[in-house]
Amino acid sequence: MPKIEVASHAGACFGVGRALERVEKILDGPAAVHTLGPLIHNPATVESLERRGATVVDESSIEDLHPGDVLVLRTHGVVPQVVNRAKAAHLQVLDATCPYVKKVHHAAQRLAASGRQVVVVGEAGHPEVDGILGHAPGACVVGSAEDAAAVPLERPIGLVVQTTQNRQLLEAVVAALKGRGANVEVCDTICEATSERQQAARELAARANTMVVIGGRNSANTTRLAEICAAHTATHHIEDAQELDPAWFSGAELIGITAGASTPSSQIKQVVETVAQMTGAQEVETESQVSGT
Ligand code: F3S
Repeated sequence: MPKIEVASHAGACFGVGRALERVEKILDGPAAVHTLGPLIHNPATVESLERRGATVVDESSIEDLHPGDVLVLRTHGVVPQVVNRAKAAHLQVLDATCPYVKKVHHAAQRLAASGRQVVVVGEAGHPEVDGILGHAPGACVVGSAEDAAAVPLERPIGLVVQTTQNRQLLEAVVAALKGRGANVEVCDTICEATSERQQAARELAARANTMVVIGGRNSANTTRLAEICAAHTATHHIEDAQELDPAWFSGAELIGITAGASTPSSQIKQVVETVAQMTGAQEVETESQVSGT
C-alpha cells in the first residue's frame, strides 16, 4: 500500500502562527481590522481572513482609515515611520512583526549607533529588508559576494542578515569583505525555520517517488522548497488541495508532502486527507510534523 509522509519540519513557522493567532483573536471585536499588505504569502488564508472582515490595505491609505481602526503590521516588519503615521492617524497598531525580525532591527540600530557602516545581507526591495534599512539609515544591501565589492570601507562594518537568507551567502559576503581588509562585526540573524524546512524537504524528497509542496506561488520560501524537491524527484507545487491530480501518484510507493513557512497546518491536513482519498495511501507518522523555531 502506498504511504504518505509529511516532512518533519513543514508549514507555518513560529512568527506566522503567532501573527495569525493574534489577528484571529481580534476579528470578532468592535474595531475594523486592516492588514498592511497580505498578512502572509498564502492566498487561501488571506481570502479567509478577508471573508471574516480583515481588509488588506497599502501604506498610501493609512491616513484614509477611520480613527480607532486596527492596523496590523505583518511578520516582515516595517520602517518606524509607518508606525508613527498610523499613530498620528489615531489607529490602533497591532504589531505582528516576528520577534526574530525585531532582533534584526535592534541589531541594525545598535551597530549603526556604535558608528559602524551597517550592511544588510539580503534581497533588495524585499519588505523585510526595507524595514531593516528603516532602522539603520545609511545602511546598504548586499545580495551576493560580488555586491560586497561596492560596500564603502571608511568605517568598520556591522553586518546583519535577512532572516530567510542562507548561511552560505552570509559566509561568502563576510569572506569577500574580509578579503578587502574590512573590520566586520557579524550579527547572524538567520532564522533556522527556513533551513530546517529545506533540510527536511531534501531528506524526504530523496526517498519519495513524488513530492507535493504546499504554499502560495508568491511565497519565495515555498518556491525554494519546490526547487529543492525537484532536484530529487517529481514535484508539484500547489496552493490548495483542489489542484491535486490523481495521475501524479500513479505507481508511487512513497508520497512526500511539505509546505512553506506561510502554510497553516489546516491546509497541510486537508492535502494529506485528499491524497489519502485519491490513492488509498496511509499517512506515516513522523516525530514533529509542524514545527516552529
Ligand atoms: Fe519569523 Fe523565521 Fe517565520 S523570522 S516569520 S519564524 S521564518
